[in-house]
Amino acid sequence: MPAFEDRISFVTGAGSGIGQAMALRLASEGATVVCADINEQSAQATAARIEGLGATAVVHALDTAREEEVAAALARTCRDLGRLDVLMNNAGVGNRDWETTTAINLDGVFFGLKYACPIMAAQGGGAIVNTASIAGLGALMRPMEYHDDPVAVESASAYVAAKHGVVGLTKQFAVAFGKVGVRVNAICPGYIKTPIIAPVMAREGGAAMLTALHPIGRLGKPEEVAAVAAFLASDAASFVTGAAVPVDGGYSAR
Ligand SMILES: NC(=O)c1ccc[n+]([C@@H]2O[C@H](COP(=O)([O-])OP(=O)(O)OC[C@H]3O[C@@H](n4cnc5c(N)ncnc54)[C@H](O)[C@@H]3O)[C@@H](O)[C@H]2O)c1
Repeated sequence: MPAFEDRISFVTGAGSGIGQAMALRLASEGATVVCADINEQSAQATAARIEGLGATAVVHALDTAREEEVAAALARTCRDLGRLDVLMNNAGVGNRDWETTTAINLDGVFFGLKYACPIMAAQGGGAIVNTASIAGLGALMRPMEYHDDPVAVESASAYVAAKHGVVGLTKQFAVAFGKVGVRVNAICPGYIKTPIIAPVMAREGGAAMLTALHPIGRLGKPEEVAAVAAFLASDAASFVTGAAVPVDGGYSAR
């Protein structure tokens, strides 16, 4: 039986990159997928691809930084689809100011946990995977090491603080909801080829510089992150909770 047969999953940031790969991966393993994104058109495009696989998709336009929107979307999922088995708490941004970065990358993840965990506990269990980053495990190295660029210092600091916060939230919610069957884990991707890294890739030498940070000798693909996230959300990971798992081609092993 496919790992996610008859399971209801909710993916934030499903319109692009890692979230899109997660949504397609869950659908390919039998899940019904709610594709949530601030960009409704891109979520619809992902949903169309899911339906092309013969699976069921629903689209929710939402801003994860707005608590009431997250609460309403998760409640509506339960009302319309009957349950909530998997949450991929994934939406995020890079290269933004402190307020924007922490509102989306940290507050948004907290709102997902705050509203999904009680729903899952009440129905007897569920699994949540938060998208953190290598920036949740340590400081960002190049191209963020320039002390004389205040914009880069602010965006990198906000990103690192938010992603460390996501790792902390992962542990706290795993502990709080462990006995009621809700597992909470984080994935910590290295640099993955998605639009979020486009500004660095566009710089001269940017691709080579990012590649050199990964002992495996290349950047990651969204599907490689989605595979680990799907494992963590599946019953195969039934004794894994509170973990922050690098998916980084060896970046954090250096
Ligand atoms: N690509 C990488 O190198 C990398 C590395 C580590 C972690 N991450 C993390 O992975 C996650 C996904 O990033 P990606 O690389 O797929 O980027 P991406 O830009 O391809 O996708 C991000 C998606 O999130 C959506 N989004 C942004 N703000 C939102 C909001 N407030 N509410 C709802 N949706 C919103 C965007 O519309 C987009 O569809 C992010 O949390 C990011 O920080 C990415």
